[in-house]
This record gives sequence, structure tokens and C-alpha cells, in this order.
Amino acid sequence: GKGSYEHFMLKEIHEQPDAIGNTIRGRLNHQLDSTRLGGLNMTPHDMAKINRIVIAGCGSSMHAGWVGEYYFEEIARIPTEVEQAAEFRYRNPIITPDTLVLPISQSGETADTLAAVREATNKGATVAAICNVVGSTIAREAGRGVYLHAGPEISVASTKGFTCQVTALLMLAVMFGRNRHLGREQGAELLKEIASIPDLIRQVLKQAPVIERIAAKYVKADNFFYIGRGYLYPTALEGALKLKEISYVHAEGYHAAELKHGSIALLEENVPVVAMANAVPGQDKMIGNIRECLARHAPVIAVVSGDDHTADELADDIIRVPMSSRYVAPLTTIVALQLFAYYFAKFRGCPIDQPRNLAKSVTVE
Ligand code: F6R
Repeated sequence: GKGSYEHFMLKEIHEQPDAIGNTIRGRLNHQLDSTRLGGLNMTPHDMAKINRIVIAGCGSSMHAGWVGEYYFEEIARIPTEVEQAAEFRYRNPIITPDTLVLPISQSGETADTLAAVREATNKGATVAAICNVVGSTIAREAGRGVYLHAGPEISVASTKGFTCQVTALLMLAVMFGRNRHLGREQGAELLKEIASIPDLIRQVLKQAPVIERIAAKYVKADNFFYIGRGYLYPTALEGALKLKEISYVHAEGYHAAELKHGSIALLEENVPVVAMANAVPGQDKMIGNIRECLARHAPVIAVVSGDDHTADELADDIIRVPMSSRYVAPLTTIVALQLFAYYFAKFRGCPIDQPRNLAKSVTVE
């Protein structure tokens, strides 16, 4: 049941430290300064042969995959792309035995993602599924992969599913990285960061009352922009999706640099911009983007890190998440955006756990 929580979504948001703890448990290999993901069932030799990764998924799972693309390319230096699963299946994708296809699906039942698994298998790829539901169709058909162990996700809006997927992708990137160029010290540093994720998320959850107040302030807004760069670009897309699906308010997730190529025309005093201004590479550029929004009279809600005060004088409202590296910032930041969407939808009187027009798992194309 929901326990003391008013909605499953809120319960699952608060479960994230434990859920991520379960995704990590037993998988940090301190002897080798690497990770251990046994379900992948690949030898170091098999792993070394992989020269390209294709991630396929839908919705939040696709957004998680996008964060994964950054991890695989930066940490493991393996060319990686993310495909909407339906696109993947219908475009006759270029697949060789050295391509690792990673379908991502919380439920393990999404029709398009399942079709992508079948397409990739027929073409001879190595297919490893990242699923939460044990024994689900995608997990079974892939035959290898990583289970999240996040526990059941009941709310239609994915929360812990997304953060556990991102954590699993980070662990996979470390394992592939250590199999290649990534040094021991860097591996050890990344293990430390992974182990710290649950506590960092606990700190974000403590900000709930602040986030609730900010959500109340903007309750009349009918259009939002979410802007990010780098690792926080997919985070902006996911934050905007959360707002749309549970509050029915229009939100666009945008790359901060792309705004001025057209969409900035939409900004005015009734269109708040949620800006990922964390202290990670690209922050200086983001500050410039925030100034561009302010010049159009858009109110700015900035997500910032720790005691970094770079955006204080600029933003109308500030959401503070703990200081972290760029690798962990998508996780802390999305939890803040999940809470923002939750309270915003609640103030607008929306049903939250069962939004209109949506089903928990999309088993038709
Ligand atoms: C968004 C959401 C959906 C799912 C998508 C894929 O909150 O829940 O976008 O992420 O339908 O579902 P799975 O991961 O079960 O394949």
C-alpha cells in the first residue's frame, strides 16, 4: 500500500535512496576498482570486442538511456547512441556482432522495446536488457542484462525506475571503462561516487518543503520550459515529461543552447523557465542562457549545487541539491524535479497516480 503517503508517486520518490541502494548492492568490486554485473554474462574478452552501443527505450527509459550515452562515451569511450525503440525497429538499424544493444524498460513489457529486442537479436547483436520487473518478457527474451531491484513501481509516472536505470547505466559504463582505458584511480573514484548516491538523494528529499512552496507560487502557469546542458540535458527532458504527464501542463524540455534558435520567442512573464544551473561543466554557459530568459521577462527557477551562489542574484527561485560531480548531478536534480511536478500537480488538483490517457505499461505500438 501507500503507507503514510498520499500517493504512490510520492512514496516511490521517497523510496529512491533505498531503491538505488538495492540497485548498487553487491555490485561494487573494490578489489578491481570496477563494478560487477553478473547478469550481463560477458567475459572481459566479450566486453573488449564491443565497439558500439545502441540503447533503445521509450519515455523515461529513453531519457535514462540518454544519460547513459554520456556515461558510455565519457567513461568507457565507446560510441553510443540512443534510439526511440519504435524508430530502432523500423529503420533497418546497422547492427554487427560487435554492437551491444541495451533495451531499457522498467516494466519489461513495452511493445516497441520488445520489438527492438527481437530485431537486434535477429541481426546478431549482443542484447542485454536493463529491466526492473523480474521475469518480464524483455528480460526473458534478452536472456542477459541488469535487474534494477527497485521494487514495484505502481505510479504511472516513473520515478525510482528512472533513477535506478541511470545508476545501472553508470555502473555498466564503469565496468566497460575498466575493461578499457579507465585507470584504477578513476575507477575507485567512481565507485565512491556511486556509493554516495543514496545519501545525496536523501539530502534532496529534505528539500521537499522548499520545493512545495515554489510549486505553489507557480500554480497558475500553463507553460514551462526546462533547460539543461550536458548530463543535465536529458534531465531537463525528463523533468518536463514528469510535469506534463501528471499536471497536464505544457512543458518543453530543451537544450539551453537551442532555445535561441527559435523557441525563445515563446518566453514572456507567464512562462517560467526551470534551469539546471548546477556547478558542473557548462555552468558558465547556462548562466548566460538564464540571462537571455530574464531579458524576455521569464521567471527563472534555478536548480543549483550545494553552497554555490553563482545563480543566486539571477534566479527568482532556487532549488538546492547537494554538490556532486556531473555524473551524479542528473540523479540529484531529477529528484528535485519529480518533487516539483508532484506538488505542482497536487496544487492543480490532478489525480497524480492515474493520469488521464496513460497506462503504466504500453503493450501496443
Ligand atoms: C513516464 C513513463 C513512461 C515510461 C515508458 C516506458 O513517467 O512512465 O514514459 O517510461 O512508457 O516504459 P517502460 O520503462 O516500462 O518500458
